[in-house]
Amino acid sequence: MDALENIMTRRSVRHFLDKPIPDEAVETILRAGMAGPSCVNARDWSFLVTRDPVIMNQMADANGRPADPLKRAALGILVLGDLERAFKPAPDYWVIDGAIAAQNMILAAHALGIGSVWLGTWPQMDRVNRQREAFCLPDTVIPHSVIAFGYPDTGAEKNSPAPPKPDDIPAAPPKDTPPQNMEKGAFEPGRIHVDRW
Ligand SMILES: Cc1cc2nc3c(=O)[nH]c(=O)nc-3n(C[C@H](O)[C@H](O)[C@H](O)COP(=O)(O)O)c2cc1C
Repeated sequence: MDALENIMTRRSVRHFLDKPIPDEAVETILRAGMAGPSCVNARDWSFLVTRDPVIMNQMADANGRPADPLKRAALGILVLGDLERAFKPAPDYWVIDGAIAAQNMILAAHALGIGSVWLGTWPQMDRVNRQREAFCLPDTVIPHSVIAFGYPDTGAEKNSPAPPKPDDIPAAPPKDTPPQNMEKGAFEPGRIHVDRW
């Protein structure tokens, strides 16, 4: 699959087979998340990764009913913004950097035959706060979005209703700090948090 075909054929998947995603694929997805551009190469994100059904349920509940697909998924990734690393003169770029990381992971998964759906968290502050509480996140770490991944259950997908409409609430963006001397696109295992912060 070339890059254009990947972009053009990706669709949200909300029903998944009961089939685990191998470790190598999870790592590739995370590498793709970290390979995107970020403002001044701030790389102001982290990833809370889980394959534990109990934790995926908690993550889904914190996001509300539109995140129910995560309850059927093989892997959940909570994308987090890290304000300590954000570009100080314009820290709100963290939101864009997080979105790029999220979309890169979705496209990488698609290239591997793994379906996914983006489940919006920020700027719905009720969701942000519930994720923050569920995972005991520091104040400088902001839940950005959840992504549910799994091998597509194409039969169930065809018969499923239209996706829920997002219920929107405005947001309060952050403020904070320094760029770094990080290699561009580098894979940083330290940014991956498994099951908990
Ligand atoms: C910021 C954002 C938030 C989203 N939140 C949800 C969600 O909570 N639940 C859901 O089922 N889909 C969610 N989606 C997926 C959209 O519904 C989906 O991308 C859109 O309907 C277009 O369909 P496609 O992804 O198949 O092209 C979200 C997508 C984005 C970009």
